Formats: sequence, C-alpha cells, structure tokens
Amino acid sequence: MNVELKIWRYDASTGERDLRPYEVDVPDEATLLDTLDAVKDKVDGTLAYRKSCRMMICGSCGMRIDGGAVLACKTRIADVVADGHVPVISAMGNLPIVKDLVVDMDPFWQKMRAIQPYLSPRLDRATEKENIVPQERMDVIHKESLCINCGCCVSECNSMESDPDFLGPAALAKGFRFVGDARDGATIERLERYSEEHGIWDCTRCYFCNERCPKGVDPRDAIAKLGAEAMKAGIDRDMGAKHAKWFVTSAKTTGWLRETELVPKTQGIVKAIKEIKFAMSLLPKGKVPPPFPPHVAADVGESRALFDLVKDQGRDGAAGIVQGEKALQHLGHHGETIEGGPTHPYDDPRSFAKPYLPDEEPVT
Ligand code: SF4
Ligand code: SF4
Ligand code: FES
Repeated sequence: MNVELKIWRYDASTGERDLRPYEVDVPDEATLLDTLDAVKDKVDGTLAYRKSCRMMICGSCGMRIDGGAVLACKTRIADVVADGHVPVISAMGNLPIVKDLVVDMDPFWQKMRAIQPYLSPRLDRATEKENIVPQERMDVIHKESLCINCGCCVSECNSMESDPDFLGPAALAKGFRFVGDARDGATIERLERYSEEHGIWDCTRCYFCNERCPKGVDPRDAIAKLGAEAMKAGIDRDMGAKHAKWFVTSAKTTGWLRETELVPKTQGIVKAIKEIKFAMSLLPKGKVPPPFPPHVAADVGESRALFDLVKDQGRDGAAGIVQGEKALQHLGHHGETIEGGPTHPYDDPRSFAKPYLPDEEPVT
C-alpha cells in the first residue's frame, strides 16, 4: 500500500518549522507508527518521534494526526488514507516540542507529582498487616487505573491551553484513582488540594479528553467524580462548586435556572454589585428576567421528583456520576425500558449508577 502523509518538522537548533511531504510503501495492516518507521528507515533518517512497546501499553507514541491526539501504534493508517486523504502529522499540543514529534513531558510529570500519585495508607502498618479489598470496591477505580500516561488528553485540553497551570485531565484522573481507592487514608486532604485554583473547578467540561483518551479512562468523568466527592465532603469554597450548587437549588425550587441570582450566589454580593452596570445594559434586550416573583415552571414537580429520586438512591458524591455516553442508558430516565427488565426503568436495579464510593469502611 502506498501512503502519502505530511509531517510537521521542527529544528530545535534554529526554531524553524516545516511541513514536509512523504510517500512510502507499507503493508495493508500498517499502523501510523509503522508508517513513520518506514519513513525513517527508507526516506529520512533524521525524523524524530518516540516509541517503545508498539502495542498501546507504554504511552510513548502520542502525537497528532489531522489535529487530534492519537497513539501512533493504535492508529491503522489504511483507515486514515482511504479515499486519497493525505494526513498531517504533528507533535502533541500543550507541551513544548523538543524535536519534530517529540514533546517535553516534564510539565506533564510535574502535574502528576502535584497530585501525590501514591497511596497514603489508611492502615496502621505497625499493627495491621493486611488490607483486603473486594473486587467490586477496586472496580470503582478501574477506568482511572487504565491510564498509560500518554498525554493525549493533555494535548487536547482547552483549559490547559488558556491556563498552563491547570492540573489537567491526566493528573486529575490519577487523583480520583487514589480518592476512590479504599486503601487510601488521605481523601479529604486530596479533595482539598485538588479543589484549589487550577484544580477540579477550572475544567471547562469540553469533554475533549474523554474523546481523545486511547484507553477509555474518561478523565472528564473522573474530574466530575472528584467534584461531586468534594461537594459531598463540604469542600465548596470555589466559585465552580458554588455555581454547580446553585444550578441544583434553582432547578429543584423552580424548574428553571434563575440566572439573575446566579452571579450573587456564585461570586458573592460584592462582585455581583460590580456587575450591575453590565446587567442593566442587558435589561432592554430582555436578557435579564425580573428576580421577583421567581418564574416557576408549570411542571416543576418533575424536577423536584428527580431531585428526590437521586437523593433516595444515595447518588450524592461520585456515586451520582455515570460514565459519559452511557449516562442516559444507566439512568434510564427517558422512559425507555431496559431489555428484559421491568416496565419502569427506575425499578430495574441495573438502571442505578454504579456505586463508585460506597460509604462502608474497607474490609480489613
Ligand atoms: S473536559 Fe476539562 S480536563 Fe477534559 S479536555 Fe476539557 S477542559 Fe480539559
Ligand atoms: S487519561 Fe488517557 S489520554 Fe490521558 S494520559 Fe491517561 S491514557 Fe493517556
Ligand atoms: S509505542 Fe507504546 S503506546 Fe505506542
């Protein structure tokens, strides 16, 4: 199979960048990594890229193809070049380029170190020797444990692009891997630390990290679980936490988002007063609904019933976060029945969110 591709080259000694075309013959089953190997072996030995395992385990070969991060060893090139498409290969985003497709991973590891990526044992090691954890309790952190530190999520993170100090999807997903670990004894300290500036609440919820992660870690969902656990623990100083809380209160009490009260509830009265001039400019355009009397939706009962349902099912904290695209399927609140299940989806135990962080003490 003949493959044409273009590669952004970068010369560290001069700072020059150049988009160069290449053409190589590779087997039909070749991956992008195999194709780069062919370029390096047969066309241009100066091309720089990272690789090791060639089987989606080591996390070395993250790079962008047509602007989206992938693992080169997981990407079958035949699928990409179908219909004559000529892909553009470049280094990952949000990390400094060292040469060609090689990025400096130091900022990635700094964030990883910042979240304390190791267990802080709950047990007294002097007197308790064994901490047996049931499989279902380890399942709570199964997805987050799949991370191979490739950086594909970081490459695409919108929040990191505007705030390089943001802890980022990979480090925060790792954070939940320890917050959710029954053997860890530093849950509150971790939640406090991750809730600071540049932490959980600085995520823009763009979901690009979920989309690009090649291992199904779903970092955005891990961040949502951290946020829910922080709120459950009463750690809600950040504006993001206050904002989320007001959404729930507003939806529960009126069935609407009461936007007029959103700013004071989120930012405080002083900041809200400073925004009055801006609010007044929106008034003639009909963008500021009068706060009194609050507009209550005709079917607000449904909104309140949903709130009560979530409460009754004990879905506060991470237990209320269902994984990305499967959320509606798990919640089943579209009135759809689950195949083979009872008529009402709420009656089906399979419609419950997975209990990510049960309250029980770990089995010791
Ligand atoms: S969802 Fe959050 S962490 Fe994930 S890419 Fe977007 S801003 Fe970054
Ligand atoms: S969360 Fe996924 S994309 Fe991010 S570093 Fe881990 S494996 Fe890679
Ligand atoms: S070479 Fe190891 S993940 Fe691709």
